[in-house]
Amino acid sequence: MKRLENRIALVTGASRGIGFAIAQAFAAEGATVLMNARDPEVLEQRAAELRQQYDAAVECLPYNVSQADAVKTAFAGIFQRHRRLDVLVNNAGILREGLLGMIPRDLIEDTVQTNIVGPLLHLQEAARLMGRKQSGSIINMSSIMGRYGSKGLTVYAASKAAIIGMTVAAAKELAPKSIRVNAVAPGFIATDMSRNIPEAVFEERVRSIGMGRVGEPSEVAQSVVFLASDESRYVTGQVLGVDGSMTI
Ligand SMILES: NC(=O)c1ccc[n+]([C@@H]2O[C@H](COP(=O)([O-])OP(=O)(O)OC[C@H]3O[C@@H](n4cnc5c(N)ncnc54)[C@H](OP(=O)(O)O)[C@@H]3O)[C@@H](O)[C@H]2O)c1
Repeated sequence: MKRLENRIALVTGASRGIGFAIAQAFAAEGATVLMNARDPEVLEQRAAELRQQYDAAVECLPYNVSQADAVKTAFAGIFQRHRRLDVLVNNAGILREGLLGMIPRDLIEDTVQTNIVGPLLHLQEAARLMGRKQSGSIINMSSIMGRYGSKGLTVYAASKAAIIGMTVAAAKELAPKSIRVNAVAPGFIATDMSRNIPEAVFEERVRSIGMGRVGEPSEVAQSVVFLASDESRYVTGQVLGVDGSMTI
């Protein structure tokens, strides 16, 4: 028996990187995967790969996670087609660096909208839909930056700390409905986001990892599968680090 058989799972930011790896792992575990990202063409290409590779049921939901109307429409569609949602992964996120004195206003606005407002809107809608069945698992993508920070990442770190706050608060509120809310805090994972930094900084970060290497998106995805599945049915309000020892 696959671990996510008969589950309907929405993954935001699923067109590449960690989100795509999660969609892939969910498809392999038998879930119906609802993939979100902004670019409809890229999303459709990635969905086609999963359908072919796993013979999986995959749907594309292209929208910007921070636009309230789009989120509402997406959830109305999910209810119409499936009548329920079993798993939500709030994965979509952006990282823009800037030293404190030089942070433009739009960097703050964009980061807050994508990394905080988007996940909150999804959390609200998912809580309503999962509440009908009195079950569900929500996984929010934080980061080690949310606890430990780094020079030039004040805004990003603040957004990832907010993810931890919303996770524990929502976990308390939703526990009586058997809806679990957990967070994953990856360290340094090989995706476009982490590659997009100066080589010297990249090397320095790798040196700070006890395991001596960057993590693979699939390694984060396996932790998300655990939190999405019944294997973690008594686990809620937790932040699971996936960082190769960066934080110990
Ligand atoms: N990579 C790391 O080392 C690392 C470490 C810790 C935490 N994380 C977190 O893990 C998550 C995924 O990171 P990643 O490295 O996989 O990033 P990535 O490779 O840059 O992928 C980001 C994904 O999010 C989508 N996205 C971005 N803004 C969006 C929006 N407003 N609405 C909908 N989709 C949006 C992107 O697609 P479109 O651009 O087409 O919309 C893409 O699918 C993020 O929350 C990140 O903060 C990453």
